[in-house]
Amino acid sequence: MSLLIDRIGELFTADPDRRTDGGILRDAAIVADGDQIAWIGPSAEAPEADERLDAGGRAVIPGFVDSHTHIVFAGDRSAEFAARMSGEPYTGGGIRTTVAATRAATDEQLLHNALHEHADMTRQGTTTVEIKSGYGLTVADEARSLRIARRLTTETTFLGAHTVPAGADPDEYTALVCGDMLDACAPHAKWIDVFCERGAFDGDQARAVLTAGAKAGLALRVHANQLTFGPGVRLAVELGAASADHCTHLTDADVDALASGSTVATLLPGAEFSTRSPYPDARRLLDAGVRVALATDCNPGSSYTGSMAFCIALAVREMGMTPAEAVAAATAGGAAALRRDDVGRLAVGASADLVVLDAPSHVHLAYRPGVPLVWNVVRRGTLLRP
Ligand code: NIG
Ligand code: FE
Repeated sequence: MSLLIDRIGELFTADPDRRTDGGILRDAAIVADGDQIAWIGPSAEAPEADERLDAGGRAVIPGFVDSHTHIVFAGDRSAEFAARMSGEPYTGGGIRTTVAATRAATDEQLLHNALHEHADMTRQGTTTVEIKSGYGLTVADEARSLRIARRLTTETTFLGAHTVPAGADPDEYTALVCGDMLDACAPHAKWIDVFCERGAFDGDQARAVLTAGAKAGLALRVHANQLTFGPGVRLAVELGAASADHCTHLTDADVDALASGSTVATLLPGAEFSTRSPYPDARRLLDAGVRVALATDCNPGSSYTGSMAFCIALAVREMGMTPAEAVAAATAGGAAALRRDDVGRLAVGASADLVVLDAPSHVHLAYRPGVPLVWNVVRRGTLLRP
């Protein structure tokens, strides 16, 4: 089955190999054959296909790659959000509230919640999503969270080291994460992550978790430098993590480390919005040559949104990114943070994942914040709204 989308006003490819045209084509067309992109070129020269969608001058961008979410959970923390908006600080302590609700939920409830969130994300243009565990914090509850996440994505992340459960000894809990919990979770996970932060896991504990995960065959990502300055970012770079996520409080040494390594800095502005914290300085990172990704961090505590468009708008308005940089960070950047080159860009041979915007340009995503601009979505070659 092939699909032709023609009369595309602006095709924002996010493809780094298209240097001459800045990655943007006008009056373009794209053909998907099965689940892959088979042809890209001028609309007037487009070949025929089984199915045709007339974009009518609209813009097309790659499907969003949301490389950081926590959507296997139960419960609600709106009261905690409301308290923050009247001045309470965010400390990460509320994670335990969600842990209690998640443990009490049935498998069916957790799957239902995750499917609902995932469907919402897809409607908003996300075609690749990473999903973490981290609201179970027992061997059985972490393993079932990952089994549920696995039903929605191949990008599953074991985050047993999200916080130390109430009443547990931090070092004993870290040993459990590195031992029995890792054994039970590794078969369901591709990645391992740790919340390296004051009040969660310190540098030594984070190193132990990441090293054990790597030994078990998992690739690394780190929640780093979200609430305070600390060792997370440098540890991520040293251990060759694919991504250091949050990167809100960075010293010059942290920025230098990121610039000299291959670790992507994944910025999560939904968290700063929702915790009323200062935003990370994307401009500083980009100017230093750091690869930047944008993701939602979708979770019930610090960032209850699955909207990549909202994150793009925040990144442009608050973090010094141009609209083109932000859209690239939400697509190709997210793919780099997941070490994927088959998604996040529109090129022949890549996965046929794209968003047709009800707008003439990618700029509208930041220019018209809060407006539902997703006109149609193609995921693995299939139109969501045929
Ligand atoms: O990425 N920082 C740690 N974990 C999540 C927040 C989880 C929560 O508050 O429930 C984050 O922001
Ligand atoms: Fe997170």
